[in-house]
Amino acid sequence: MKTLILYDSKYGTTERCAQHLAAQIKCDVDMQKIIPKKNYDLSDYQQIILGTPIYMGKPRKVFTEFINQHLDTLLTKRLHLYICGMQNADAGEELKNAYPEELSRHATHKAFFGGEFIFTKMNFFEKLIVKTVTKKAIQPSKFREAMMFAHSVMKKWRFLRRISSLTNKNKTL
Ligand SMILES: Cc1cc2nc3c(=O)[nH]c(=O)nc-3n(C[C@H](O)[C@H](O)[C@H](O)COP(=O)(O)O)c2cc1C
Repeated sequence: MKTLILYDSKYGTTERCAQHLAAQIKCDVDMQKIIPKKNYDLSDYQQIILGTPIYMGKPRKVFTEFINQHLDTLLTKRLHLYICGMQNADAGEELKNAYPEELSRHATHKAFFGGEFIFTKMNFFEKLIVKTVTKKAIQPSKFREAMMFAHSVMKKWRFLRRISSLTNKNKTL
């Protein structure tokens, strides 16, 4: 079964999660970052994994535009969804709101992978927002913790294992 991982990422965390997933799936997997107004041919792929970071409670415009544009096609694929974010407490709500309801219902697996704040890449306003929202002193990158968290979530949801076994079972497709 040919798999495509399509993702948005501003500072690279969601992209690294996509790379991590691709490395686990190993065979017949492509990755593409969503670029505004680009034409995507999804016809080659039977399985699609979508990933997006959450900013101010939702995915960025480029991601929602892509989803809306390809909704009908996505509903014909075996689908898995993930989000990256730092608001662990709101993970369930953010995951629910990040994708249209019918897409969410159609998806086999959904997961919150955690995230990281990369302060060296943020502009002044972003730092201010993050400081205000978290009400904590600036912390260094949390990527290691995020990936450990992602691992535990993946294990819990059997996300990777299920995707890998589905992929291997349908190798001949
Ligand atoms: C300005 C700003 C706003 C954010 N808002 C949210 C939010 O509402 N919910 C959340 O879970 N994470 C939020 N985050 C955390 C990002 O989702 C997190 O940094 C993520 O790892 C970014 O992924 P990316 O590098 O792939 O873009 C915010 C981060 C920034 C800088």
